[in-house]
Amino acid sequence: MKKTGTNLNRISEFQELISREVGSFCRALKARPARLYEPLSYVLSLEGKRVRPVLTLMACDLFDADVSRALQPALGLELFHNFSLIHDDIMDNAPLRRSKPTVHEKWSTAVALLSGDAMLVKAYQLMSSCANLQVLELFSEMALAVCEGQQLDMDFEKLKTVSIAEYLQMIELKTATLIAACLKTGALIAGARAEDAKRIFEFGKNIGIAFQLQDDILDTYGEEEKFGKQKGGDIIANKKTFLLLKALELSGLNAYKKEELELWMNATAANAREKVEAVTGIFDSLNIRDLAVAEMLKFYNKGIGYLNEIPASEEKMNNLKVLVGGLIKREK
Ligand code: IPE
Ligand code: IPE
Ligand code: MG
Ligand code: MG
Ligand code: MG
Repeated sequence: MKKTGTNLNRISEFQELISREVGSFCRALKARPARLYEPLSYVLSLEGKRVRPVLTLMACDLFDADVSRALQPALGLELFHNFSLIHDDIMDNAPLRRSKPTVHEKWSTAVALLSGDAMLVKAYQLMSSCANLQVLELFSEMALAVCEGQQLDMDFEKLKTVSIAEYLQMIELKTATLIAACLKTGALIAGARAEDAKRIFEFGKNIGIAFQLQDDILDTYGEEEKFGKQKGGDIIANKKTFLLLKALELSGLNAYKKEELELWMNATAANAREKVEAVTGIFDSLNIRDLAVAEMLKFYNKGIGYLNEIPASEEKMNNLKVLVGGLIKREK
């Protein structure tokens, strides 16, 4: 009999598995040098959503393999993500992460650099533990894509504007490729057919773009207490988010508004709060939030289209849909 519906217990079971893995990873860390290893357990002990490793397990499960085979690589992918956050917070000059001081604020930039490096090396060790060359190659390719995306993100801060297409390419590199790789890793470990591994990668890529669009929306419109990051950080740094780019485009019809927006983009750091308020006001007057949500849904639906092409149990597909549906409605 074909199974239908969802099995929400399965999602929490996977989340539980991952949090146990993260816990034992932290307990096994060496104590010294403390300033090298403490930041790792500090970051990992904070409330992250653990979306990426859960996606790896769910993809492995989708293709009917024993998920315990994917546990070490799943942990490796979560470590890679956390490494990228430690370095990202230096690059973005971010004070808060998961509602706590960022590593470079709590210790120093030098400590954040080196403990991030150590986290990346640990991630590689875990990825190689499954002795699957395809998994390792995918991981390296993905890691380079993230570096490329992160560099473009910083380059764009200095530009007056970029096209929406350039923005989408940048977020695909910095965010979506990792989510896609997490899913494909689970599929590869399960021995999925090449065409299905490709479909799940495309699913992840589009969901990942939607995920970053939601992150950009939350940066301006989220509640700092829930989101756990500084509100308006993207506006302060002149990040070329979909919100800002759409506002630049639409304000072109109103010379006064465009001039005001550009004036704020040139404002100094001294009036950061005022800048966030004023730019948010301009976004509101142009209905930018709704436009960003519509853009996000476009990619979300495109992603689901790829998932639907995979021949798999309806229940397992639905589990994945529930999880990713939650991601685009999330508040943190
Ligand atoms: C933050 O990722 C980085 C982005 C790509 C937006 P998450 O929102 O998954 O962060 P955690 O792991 O739950 O803290
Ligand atoms: C994603 O972009 C960053 C990574 C690839 C690590 P953001 O800079 O927007 O991520 P957050 O908002 O700081 O988590
Ligand atoms: Mg960033
Ligand atoms: Mg950031
Ligand atoms: Mg962000």
